[in-house]
Amino acid sequence: RVNPLVLGIETSCDETGIGIVRGATLLSNTIASSMDEHARYGGVVPEVAARAHLEELVPAIRAATLEAGIRLEDIDAVAVTCGPGLAGALMVGVGAAKALAISLGKPIYAVNHLVGHVGADVLRLGPDDMTEPLEYPTIALLVSGGHTSLLLVRDLVSDVELLGETIDDAAGEAFDKVARLLGLPYPGGPQIDRAALAGNPTAIRFPRGLSQTKDMAKHRYDFSFSGLKTSVARWVEQKRDADEPVPLADVAASFREAVVDILLTKAIAACVDLGVPRLLLGGGVIANARLRQVAQERTDAAGIALRIPPLSLCTDNGAMIAALGAQLIMAGHPPSALDFGADSTLPV
Ligand code: KG4
Ligand code: ZN
Repeated sequence: RVNPLVLGIETSCDETGIGIVRGATLLSNTIASSMDEHARYGGVVPEVAARAHLEELVPAIRAATLEAGIRLEDIDAVAVTCGPGLAGALMVGVGAAKALAISLGKPIYAVNHLVGHVGADVLRLGPDDMTEPLEYPTIALLVSGGHTSLLLVRDLVSDVELLGETIDDAAGEAFDKVARLLGLPYPGGPQIDRAALAGNPTAIRFPRGLSQTKDMAKHRYDFSFSGLKTSVARWVEQKRDADEPVPLADVAASFREAVVDILLTKAIAACVDLGVPRLLLGGGVIANARLRQVAQERTDAAGIALRIPPLSLCTDNGAMIAALGAQLIMAGHPPSALDFGADSTLPV
């Protein structure tokens, strides 16, 4: 099948994403986020996210078809995230996708959210987008508020291996929690990024989780951020107890530096160990300016080709799900049977 027209549905967390692609070309990418509703709780509330998806899905589908200039009945297939993610949120998307596929008489492809993040990289933004196709194998580092995963991708549609992941908080979650203890609003990532601008990243040496020799045998490609968070909390507490001012910019810059160092040390170690000279980044934390800068410096130094899709395709979205669905179709994969469920812990 050449260049199928695929509608993708993403509802694994707080973004209701509808994307439409033709083959590897992006036609529309509509996102409605319930982020604001979660802000006063300091993190995503699953029940609130699921209800928001229910309200946003149909308008988002309308908006996406309008933007793509297509009629719903023209699509060749529906693709939907069936996991991993928040169970209730996933169920809303899966239910909607099935209803759509059945009513249109079209096939449906249930896809993995993490593999979807990698799929984002195959998308061309239009006929003039001359980005080279994704080459294999590649290491992929996916960092968001919900996940921190390191993947070895030998083939997008048939061979993706999980090398490691966080054993506690996700990287974005760490940003959100540290921002909170510094008195900054949610989501904390952009706030810390901004506060860090005026700070010295070497002012305070915060610990790099799971990087000691003793941890490396068992957790070579795994991540840990809870010790770092506790260390920042303790440092700030001591200052406050001593009635000393907390140097916000320095704490933000030093914390950010630790997260960036942890993420890239592991990702580049995977590239080197496995002889894979390519690194792909994805997820909302990629918005972090320092992470992108250090990633460029370290991959350049190691002779590794770095790929970062546009930010609108790095954060959770439906286009990456549609793109993966289209790749599956073009590779001749059969559609999913209609009795699949939502799996909050779906492995890659
Ligand atoms: O992928 P994403 O939009 O959504 C989900 O996690 O589902 O990622 C959001 C996460 C939040 O934790 C947010 O604090 C973090 O990404 N984030 C950042 C930055 N912008 C967003 N973290 C660090 N630096 C940033 N500039
Ligand atoms: Zn994601």
